[in-house]
Amino acid sequence: MAIRQIRVDDDEILRKRCKPVKEMTPRIQELIDDMFETMYENNGVGLAAPQVGVLKRIVVIDLSTDDNEEEPYCLINPELVFEEGEQEGEEGCLSVPGKAAKVVRPNHVIVKALNEDMEEIEVEGFELLARALCHELDHLDGIMYTDLMEPGTLHKVEQE
Ligand code: NI
Repeated sequence: MAIRQIRVDDDEILRKRCKPVKEMTPRIQELIDDMFETMYENNGVGLAAPQVGVLKRIVVIDLSTDDNEEEPYCLINPELVFEEGEQEGEEGCLSVPGKAAKVVRPNHVIVKALNEDMEEIEVEGFELLARALCHELDHLDGIMYTDLMEPGTLHKVEQE
């Protein structure tokens, strides 16, 4: 496994549409392992493949904290199939270092995807998980949270 370089700010690759994954290969498995390692190393809760320069429809999410262990997700070719409600909250992104802003997202979503074994799965998320799913899925279509943020709410945050 290896920690990959995170693409930031105006890097054009962050604005491209990613391609679906057709089959699991050792290369893609390595990419997924590296994405988890890179996310953990940078204290992130989610990471999408284009953020490490790979235009494939893969995201990883782990909302675990020191006192709350959550299931880590690897989602391949994810699709939003249901959304409901609304929540407003602070959002940040490893590709927009040192900043955060307020973004309105659905409060409840269901995402269909393939897991690392290329089996169909469904992930239902409320609140923070719903937000993380929407944020990471957007990356696969070149959308950044800064495109959706409420005007005037972008601010600096202390970097870990
Ligand atoms: Ni992000």
